Amino acid sequence: MGRFLTRLIDAQARWARPFGDFNHRWLSALFRPLGPLKDFLHGRWLGHPLHPAATDIPIGILGMVIVFDLIGQPVAADVSLVAGIVFMVASALAGFADYADTDGTARVRATVHATLMVGALLLYGLSLVLRAGEPVDRTVPFVLSVMAFLILTAGAYVGGDVVYALGNMVSRHAFRGAGTKWLPLDLDAAVELPENTPVKAKLGINTLVLVRRGTTLHALHDTCAHAGGPLSGGTVVDDCIECPWHGSRFDLATGHARRGPTVYDQPRYEVRMGESGWEARRAAD
Ligand code: FES
Repeated sequence: MGRFLTRLIDAQARWARPFGDFNHRWLSALFRPLGPLKDFLHGRWLGHPLHPAATDIPIGILGMVIVFDLIGQPVAADVSLVAGIVFMVASALAGFADYADTDGTARVRATVHATLMVGALLLYGLSLVLRAGEPVDRTVPFVLSVMAFLILTAGAYVGGDVVYALGNMVSRHAFRGAGTKWLPLDLDAAVELPENTPVKAKLGINTLVLVRRGTTLHALHDTCAHAGGPLSGGTVVDDCIECPWHGSRFDLATGHARRGPTVYDQPRYEVRMGESGWEARRAAD
C-alpha cells in the first residue's frame, strides 16, 4: 500500500516539479526581507519545527465539524469550521516557511502536500459561505466539509511522507552518538590555520569544520543540522558560520542555532593539542 501511494505521489512530479520551482522563487523573494518572521515560522524559538506541531490543531477541530453536523449541532459545527479555517491558515504560514527551503524530491512532494491543503481550504471556505446563508437543507455544505476532510487527510499523509520518508526538517544528527573519547584530528599540527576561514578535518568517521579565531580553535560538525549542507563550504558571519545551502547560522562557540531554517543546534567539539597532534571530542551540550 505504501509503495503504491509513493508511486502515486511521485507520478505528480510532471506538474509538481515546475510548480514547486515557481513557488520556491516567489516564496524566497517574499521571505528574503522577513528573516525574523521566517525564523519564527520555522520554530527556531521553540527548538522544534512549528508546522507539524501546529497542524494537529486544525485537523482535530475540522474533524469535529463532521461530528457536530452528524449529531445535529449546526452552531457548534459552524463555529468549529471557522476556528478550523483560522488555525489551518496559521499552520499553512509555518508550512510555507519550511517549503521555501525544500529541494529535489522533498520540494516535489511538499508541492503535492501544499496543493492538497489549499484545495481542502477552498472547499472549507465554500462550505462556510453556504452555511452563512443559513440554508434549510445543509446537505451540500456538509458534503463539502466531508470532501475537504478527506483531501485534508490525504494532504497530511503526503506531508508526513515529506518528514518521515525524506527527513525534511529532521535533525541530521538525530542518530549521531555523543562519545566523549578524545580522538586524533586529521590536521597537520605544523600548519597554522587561516584566521576566520572554515577548514574541513576528519575526526574518525566524522567530518568537522574548524575555524580559528586568534588562539581559539572552534569546531562544529560539518554536516548542517537542517538538511546536511557542508558548513566548511560556508562563510563566517559575525560569531557564526553560515551554511551555504539555505543560510542557517550556528554560533561558532556554542553550536547554537542563531538563524533558520534550522531549528536544531549543531554538534560542537572540543579541540586540544595532544602529545602527537591535534585531538578532538564531542562537547557535552
Ligand atoms: S542545509 Fe539547509 S541551511 Fe544548511
